[in-house]
Amino acid sequence: MNLLTIAELAKDEIDGLLSRAAALKERHKKGIPHHPLRGKTLGLIFEKSSTRTRVSFETAMYHLGGDAIFISGKDSQIGRGEPIKDTARVMSRYVDAIVIRTFGHEIIEEYAKYSSVPVINGLTDTHHPCQVLADVMTVIEKKGTYNGMKVCWIGDGNNMANSWIEAAAVLGFELKLACPKGYWPSKEFLEKLKAAGDPEILITDNVEEAAADADVLNTDVWASMGQEEEAEKRKKAFAGFQINKKILKLSKKGAIVMHCLPAHRGEEITEDVLEGPHSVVWDEAENRLHIQKAILERLLVDGGR
Ligand code: CP
Ligand code: NVA
Repeated sequence: MNLLTIAELAKDEIDGLLSRAAALKERHKKGIPHHPLRGKTLGLIFEKSSTRTRVSFETAMYHLGGDAIFISGKDSQIGRGEPIKDTARVMSRYVDAIVIRTFGHEIIEEYAKYSSVPVINGLTDTHHPCQVLADVMTVIEKKGTYNGMKVCWIGDGNNMANSWIEAAAVLGFELKLACPKGYWPSKEFLEKLKAAGDPEILITDNVEEAAADADVLNTDVWASMGQEEEAEKRKKAFAGFQINKKILKLSKKGAIVMHCLPAHRGEEITEDVLEGPHSVVWDEAENRLHIQKAILERLLVDGGR
């Protein structure tokens, strides 16, 4: 079994991961050792930069009694053109599971097709499932539940937005996205999702409309990794698609502000809001560690169930 997108998980599977992550967090805070992955090795192949995903997965593996090996795409033979299908089969002979961070989602799908060990998506151009699972865990911690929550997304219709859309569709909370025209999640992606049910998702280019009465305000960078050349053009297109004090005022009293990080202060979020009392970004980053332990346990101890 793999974890490539949120949509491939059932609601009860996500709920199981979320409650297990909370239990593992509590255990960790109490200093109770837990080593179910002794003798297991996690491989990480990253073709893009990372701080949180890499360090939280490696640390999760060490805490659970296993080992982790990090390989940067450019330092491996992948960077010299060795086919994904060959790398996947070779790595399967060494490690017990693998985290991939890459560009096109089809690359990780190809990897998963040829891998005989679980493949975990550590971010592709169109999905970031582990981050959004950590985000939903953070919503539950701060708000008690995701049920009935009004979640607002401001900014790019990118990998994070897509994974939030899938989470809303599977878990059934309300999601309103404000993205500039031309930067909405793809039609094809939304059509596929609609075919699977009728999620409560609104997409607009009106930031105020999306933020009104929200319990959760969420954003991400205007230019993602791999879009560096578009950064200047995007700065113009995204002007105003920002979480700031004015937007915060439109949301519900006690709303939380989330950002997967890294943040660009003064672009998608202002310094005062990011550092202010509504921001939960550091807990959100910490929760990557706990949710990933739950994912690793599920894939490596529970035999994929
Ligand atoms: N949020 C996130 O995935 O951060 P990194 O790029 O540092 O892994
Ligand atoms: N959308 C961002 C997320 C970084 C964690 C990117 O893909 O660069």
